[in-house]
Amino acid sequence: MVFAGKLSSTWTAYFAALSTLSGLIAPAVAVKEHDFKKCDQAGFCKRNRAFADNVVAAGSSWETPYKILPETTSFKDGQFQATVLKTINAQGETVKLPLTISFLESGTARVTMDEEKRQKKEIELRNDSKARKERYNEAENLVIVGGLTLDKDAQLANEDKTEATVKYGPSSNFEAHIKYAPFAIDFKRDGVSQIKFNDRGFLNMEHWRPKIDKPEPEKKEGEENQEEKKEEPTGEDESTWWDETFGGNTDTKPRGPESVALDITFVGFDHIYGIPSHAGPLALKQTRGGDGNYVEPYRLYNADVFEYILDSPMTLYGAIPLMQAHRKDSHVGVFWLNAAETWVDVTKAKDATNPLTLGIGAKTNTQTHWISESGLLDAFVFLGPTAQDITHKFAELTGTTAMPQEASIAYHQCRWNYISDDDVKDVDRKMDRYKIPYDVIWLDLEYTDDRKYFTWAGDMFKDPKSMGEKLDEHGRKLVVLIDPHIKNVDNYHVSSELKSKELAVKDKTGGIFEGWCWPGSSHWIDAFNPKAIDWWKTLFKYTAFKGTAENTFIWNDMNEPSVFNGPETTMPKDNLHHGGWEHRDVHNVNGMTFHNATYQALLSRKSGELRRPFVLTRSFFAGSQRYGAMWTGDNQAAWDHLGASIPMILSQGISGFPFSGADVGGFFGNPDKELLTRWYQAGAFYPFFRAHAHIDSRRREPYLVGEPYLPIVTAAIRLRYSLLPAWYTAFHQAYVDNTPIVKPMFYTHPSEEAGFGIDDQLFLGDTGLLFKPVVEQGKESVDIFIPDDEVYYNYFTYDVAPTHKGKKTTLAAPLDTIPLLMRGGHIFPRRDRPRRSSALQRFDDYTLVVAVPRQRGGGRAEGTLYVDDGDSFDFEKGQYIHRRFVLLTGDDSAAGQRLVSTEAEARPDAGKVKEGKWLKQMRDVHVDKVIVVGAPASWAGRKEVTVESEGKTWTLGMEYVPAEGGRAAYATVRGVGARIGADWTIAFA
Ligand code: GLC
Repeated sequence: MVFAGKLSSTWTAYFAALSTLSGLIAPAVAVKEHDFKKCDQAGFCKRNRAFADNVVAAGSSWETPYKILPETTSFKDGQFQATVLKTINAQGETVKLPLTISFLESGTARVTMDEEKRQKKEIELRNDSKARKERYNEAENLVIVGGLTLDKDAQLANEDKTEATVKYGPSSNFEAHIKYAPFAIDFKRDGVSQIKFNDRGFLNMEHWRPKIDKPEPEKKEGEENQEEKKEEPTGEDESTWWDETFGGNTDTKPRGPESVALDITFVGFDHIYGIPSHAGPLALKQTRGGDGNYVEPYRLYNADVFEYILDSPMTLYGAIPLMQAHRKDSHVGVFWLNAAETWVDVTKAKDATNPLTLGIGAKTNTQTHWISESGLLDAFVFLGPTAQDITHKFAELTGTTAMPQEASIAYHQCRWNYISDDDVKDVDRKMDRYKIPYDVIWLDLEYTDDRKYFTWAGDMFKDPKSMGEKLDEHGRKLVVLIDPHIKNVDNYHVSSELKSKELAVKDKTGGIFEGWCWPGSSHWIDAFNPKAIDWWKTLFKYTAFKGTAENTFIWNDMNEPSVFNGPETTMPKDNLHHGGWEHRDVHNVNGMTFHNATYQALLSRKSGELRRPFVLTRSFFAGSQRYGAMWTGDNQAAWDHLGASIPMILSQGISGFPFSGADVGGFFGNPDKELLTRWYQAGAFYPFFRAHAHIDSRRREPYLVGEPYLPIVTAAIRLRYSLLPAWYTAFHQAYVDNTPIVKPMFYTHPSEEAGFGIDDQLFLGDTGLLFKPVVEQGKESVDIFIPDDEVYYNYFTYDVAPTHKGKKTTLAAPLDTIPLLMRGGHIFPRRDRPRRSSALQRFDDYTLVVAVPRQRGGGRAEGTLYVDDGDSFDFEKGQYIHRRFVLLTGDDSAAGQRLVSTEAEARPDAGKVKEGKWLKQMRDVHVDKVIVVGAPASWAGRKEVTVESEGKTWTLGMEYVPAEGGRAAYATVRGVGARIGADWTIAFA
């Protein structure tokens, strides 16, 4: 071991203690599937699946017990309101469920249903519970940031005693057809059904009822198990209504059964995507058995799933309940705003008889069944018609990606653990010695004094300040881990403040909750409490968290939350949060509240400092994109985990949280050198590019990889650095409207059906760069799917790839080759000078690469560059450069053969912005090189180009290299000399 000689005896002793301790309290090494619930081990999931089965079995004799009372309906200012009556027994008793359907200006519809009795708090809680009585109705306060303005132009087109129709949306081409009895909604676009609610009658809102104590049935010996309790004669399985035990933990349910479930049918849609995070294909599978299908529903219940298994609907660390359905040229979506444990069944049905689906080519309906444990029924409906529409409307509601620290989109070097400040400095030096760029080095758990966050292990990190200063010499950053569990010991100010200020999560009795995590006995900050956030902020002040500085950023882990001795490694559901909400109600949004607290804290470290935070989170929910990046958790150093990372990251991108990555190299285990090399090549195309490794794994910093791998790994990281301007531009787009940073084929090519199931390749932003990693051992080629008729050039050789629309083409990919194509019609920016960090590239000149489209003479290549200081919020005040580059390849007449740079957006502030320091410095930054790949043959004889900018004109040499063999012709102009921020034209003819 490289650092063996440096291990102090304290450290060795520490490790010995650690391994004994972790044997006691940490989950076992591999995920045990049976540590996590299956649907039939979660009472409410089992009940709702059984409910659905009964409905199906009953066939046409079934009638849903939910009906709108016609005399209660009203329609005003874009809102339809009514009372839904649920008949609860044969005697015809009913409960009232207030319904609101809101039609929003954006064209999104929102359906919300509550339960009157709980809403009015007319229920009794059991077990002296101090929990709230209502259904959880505050998810929107945490998640929704805009887009709720009602559409005053929505019209009630007709209404009678049995149904109502509301026309809404852009050009009023959307329609909600509300059927009263049985209650159902049919959402149409241009008169055609797209999404149906309760079409199959699975709507089920478990109403409040008092517990009627019945004599305990005599237990036979050995019959303690919940699951074996007899079902009630009514046919309703009451066995898990009032309490439920799993893995030795009993969940007391003070409010009784309260699940909410609904069937949602995507009419005529064969492909559905979203609801991350799961380790499976991008296009979701069916979940009720059959060849190649899952048998379990997709589960959303954020959990610390140690060494997760692949191709599984099992839950992972984060949840975004946004589902999208796609067919040729049509895209719709549903956002199920519920933060409780949720399961989603997916089945497909051929629907040859449905006249509405006949005309549109697709005869499959995708049927889904959403089942949440508690909370409101609250669902947003997006009718598209494009995937981009759903991205934008969802972003309006939940926010866009935070503009990142520029360093955070470069390469990160992490492991559990860099063991001392000397170790950090040593890695830093070696990265430089081997000329491998990196921007951020990370400190995991063991930098702390005994796992007490906001402290340093003083014997190992003697001088954190000077360590930070050393990193800063090359503009590098440090990230340190801060988890939500606070060690429960005396003489630790964080712990004593947490307790004395009463800011911790409480147990079901109202006492402070105690559980086990990394530090042993711990308490958890309750970041739902605004006061807890205020307190959290105080801990991050530079004056409080000594040793941190402006280049220190934060990693939030274990925020599902992970509780080693809790049910399914998390908190008991009957724990209590701020406002009296049970953990059950808020579990999936818990991680986001902590991520938010840290983000807010970084914004206020020093008054007057306005630096963009960087916070990595493991757990997330819809909206987390506003606070930083996520990674896919504890993967393994195995080829199949490398492969699985691509669809997972694509899924994050289309689901609103695109700043995502997987641990490069794999967290658990030791990757062999080939795997590590391939992982670097893939990781260079993750939006979040970080190598990380488990404490038991061997050191694997890239410079240790040895020959012949070292130059290959270095080249992959350098490729990321040279393309940083393109990545940053893509991140800016995500900041503007949450466009995915890397995109799957269905997203960029919505008409090309053969691409709808492709999830092992991606386009980077709008660059036209099409990348497919090698994810198999010994593989020396990839078959890359080509979604259109454009020309595709090899990024490195300029060879024209032999392509056919809708087919795969084989690219050679020996170990030293990254399969990367440039799609004709695009222009992207690069910085070609290799540097040690992104900060050192900041004022380097640019290279522009133009990929000439197949269609010459009228064809057009286009691209953009966005750049700002990469660090402050000055971009909000106009301190940025945003250019659009266009190459017109007309005939040789005046309009054609020009590359033109103009403002990329209409800037109302143009000319008025006072140049700050950074913009002034950018005056010295120019376009250096322009490479035109696929340059027209008519340029062959030319030796010069004319550049025109800022009132000056000059000529420059052009080197034209004719096509040869499979290689396209290309032309290079060097030393262009036009300022990157100015308008300019290069005339090739
Ligand atoms: C969790 C994280 C992992 C980290 C470890 C120690 O397992 O997922 O990335 O290294 O905790 O903090």
